[in-house]
Amino acid sequence: FTPFGLPLSGVYKRSYAHVTIKDRLPVILTKIIDILCQNKSKIIDTYSENTEKDIKEIIGFISQLKTEIVTNKALKPLRLNTKVINDAEEWNKYLEYRTCVEDGIPTWFNTVWLYCECYMYRVLAQEISLLNTIHNYDPFEYQKQTDFINSIESVDLIALYIKDVLCNKEYNKENSKNDFLKFLKLSLWGNRHDLSATAGAPSSQTGNPLVIVESLNQNIVVNDWEIVWDIVNKKMKENDNIHIVLDNAGYELFTDLCLAAFLVTIVPTTKITFHAKLYPWYVSDTTIHDFLWMLDYMNKLNDHPNIQLLGKTFKNLMDQEIWCIKEEPYWTGPYDFTQMKERGKNIYAQFSDAKLVIFKGDLNYRKLLGDVNFEYNISFTAALGNFQPTNILSLRTMKSDICVGLPNDTAEFFEMHKDKLITGEYAIIQAALFKI
Ligand code: F6P
Ligand code: MG
Repeated sequence: FTPFGLPLSGVYKRSYAHVTIKDRLPVILTKIIDILCQNKSKIIDTYSENTEKDIKEIIGFISQLKTEIVTNKALKPLRLNTKVINDAEEWNKYLEYRTCVEDGIPTWFNTVWLYCECYMYRVLAQEISLLNTIHNYDPFEYQKQTDFINSIESVDLIALYIKDVLCNKEYNKENSKNDFLKFLKLSLWGNRHDLSATAGAPSSQTGNPLVIVESLNQNIVVNDWEIVWDIVNKKMKENDNIHIVLDNAGYELFTDLCLAAFLVTIVPTTKITFHAKLYPWYVSDTTIHDFLWMLDYMNKLNDHPNIQLLGKTFKNLMDQEIWCIKEEPYWTGPYDFTQMKERGKNIYAQFSDAKLVIFKGDLNYRKLLGDVNFEYNISFTAALGNFQPTNILSLRTMKSDICVGLPNDTAEFFEMHKDKLITGEYAIIQAALFKI
């Protein structure tokens, strides 16, 4: 395992980083090749005859990348794309920086895990952007949409529940504290819908999520929800905004939007900014296209009137600019959040103006901690280092080897059962307050 105090790396053979680089990433890449092969004629029909050449080219690139990963080759600079303004040069500078730090060019298993895994998605996006005809192609789009479509029955049950909260003038405000916790938990457990964990295999939410989340209460190993309720309920002044750094599209995104709709209902003065990814990222992360697709899809569901109504509500919130969505390049850049104050001044300043930033998911948590394997009982606030723009809430099902702020007995449990840190069966609602 990675020793305490060091960043996670594939060099440690018993770590999840090692397993991911050795097994999970190659499977994700193979899956993309399969999708391209299976849908070849459909893609050619949608684009043009010249697309066949592009498909061949990108499959060749992905196969080579896979070989380079499993044989622990050096990471290469990204090929630049002069047609599009992007952060490829920044990534190349970062490679030079790591070459200095590591005293040699980083290789897949020897460098830090966070860097090489993010690099994989970034280099793939770069190569796709360089293709002639399918430069906007999202290889994960179908899986993301299927995750939502397969979850419709559960989505319907939540839509019915939230209707009472959003549309019923008689809604009993006394219930809002309980409902806040309910929507937090729905959004939290929605994070199990991460398609990178299943290498893109189809996933769906089945059963009644309103009941299921209650059966999982024992598995929330840190639960700071009351601290956040206090901010939302008592400390929000006019013009105090909330940001949500989104994670996965599909069912998880739906639960995030329910939480956001609930928040603007109980704090009518607040506005919410969602942060989406600029490129297809970690298989299922939300792009603006995924976000708009879901709203559109909900609006077309004539046989599910509650979902349709909720879709309209979401659209209205966008139209009235109570909600907005941004694609900030920092999320797909090479830096974690401990470097944001220096490297992402613009986004750090936006957060400093907000009252609360909610970070969804495992990867965001890893970035908050700089992917350092801290001792499990150090405080979340201490682990965040100089990342203190405003009040922070992390909603994360645990899918990587790191976790902080655990009570001693829980810390001991995970010391003894490190395999339990990565399964997604445990979760945290973890907050750090920097602004009252
Ligand atoms: O593969 C690395 C990893 O961070 C996993 O630990 C996790 O399964 C996935 O990527 C991303 O998870 P999430 O969608 O919750 O950020
Ligand atoms: Mg994700």
